Amino acid sequence: MRISRKMEHVHYALELGQSRQQGLSDIKLVHNCLPETSTDHIALTTTIGDLIMSSPILINAMTGGAQETESINRELAILAREKGMPMAVGSQMSAIKNSEVAPSYQIVRRENPNGVIFANLGSEASTEQALRAIDMIEANALQIHLNVMQELIMPEGDRSFIGMLGRIESIVRQSPVPVIVKEVGFGISRDNAKQLQEVGVQVLDVGGSGGTNFAAIENARRPSSLAWLNDWGTPTSITLLEALSVYPWGSVIASGGITNALEAAKALTLGASAVGMAGSFLRVLRTDGVDALHSFADELHQGLILIMTALGAPSVQALTQCPVVIMGETAEWCQTRGID
Ligand code: FNR
Repeated sequence: MRISRKMEHVHYALELGQSRQQGLSDIKLVHNCLPETSTDHIALTTTIGDLIMSSPILINAMTGGAQETESINRELAILAREKGMPMAVGSQMSAIKNSEVAPSYQIVRRENPNGVIFANLGSEASTEQALRAIDMIEANALQIHLNVMQELIMPEGDRSFIGMLGRIESIVRQSPVPVIVKEVGFGISRDNAKQLQEVGVQVLDVGGSGGTNFAAIENARRPSSLAWLNDWGTPTSITLLEALSVYPWGSVIASGGITNALEAAKALTLGASAVGMAGSFLRVLRTDGVDALHSFADELHQGLILIMTALGAPSVQALTQCPVVIMGETAEWCQTRGID
């Protein structure tokens, strides 16, 4: 039997891994030898849109829709509940089209009745489908993912991208919860951020390159001559600064290739109010198991507390007041584009 596309994505995401060329090595935090704070005074609470969350680490959208994906969603939902982390489900279009697979998404709400959970659909979704996705898991926010390059590389993928912004605008108008527009690993430019802001999108998840690579995944799933597109996209450090030149603190999530607390802290210091991680959680769960997954989340939180103490930043928002030096390709890019 052919394994489902969802499980192929899981398989190739693990096989190909994350390049970690997300640009965060260009970001240097300036050591503070007089931080005047203590680990007891650090709070990891943060804000995304109107939502207040006890952790700035988001378990980002991955899966649902097939039987094996239900157990992945269950383990991730238990992690989210135990560690107080927000979590997004993978694209719910399969459950919109076939209600029999809805339980593989609903497990996330069942395991975590009081948690912050994001619904997820692509920009092809109608407003009616978006409302059903939100309702399906009693979501606190809706992610709309943009994945033009992934679609173009897939032989069976979409070829027309007309009307995306109009559909997003209609969803924003009628959604009872905040709408987050996210990329899946190719980034969001300043110009696109302005277009999204104009139609009322409350939150962006920049989804830059340097992490899970959906160009490489689609090229690996079949014989392909499009491997020259595997470097497509804007690294996370750069797309984050592009988005932050338009959207204020509290409305930008950094993601794409974030693997540890230092990379997360750099993104938060640049001005992200939360950090999304997908491939890293998947890898630890599938290669090392559930206990290792829980230890990994603890390490991320403890690592953030350690770095925030060292920088003298008692809150996630206070991190944005810490000095930071931007070097290399990220600095050159910002200079060329006139981004401060
Ligand atoms: C994803 N991602 C994703 N995103 C989305 O909005 N809807 C989806 O259905 C999926 N599906 C999916 C499956 C798998 C197996 C992975 C690993 C990822 C993309 C994900 O949310 C994120 O944007 C990218 O993976 C980049 O972040 P990382 O993995 O580098 O942390």
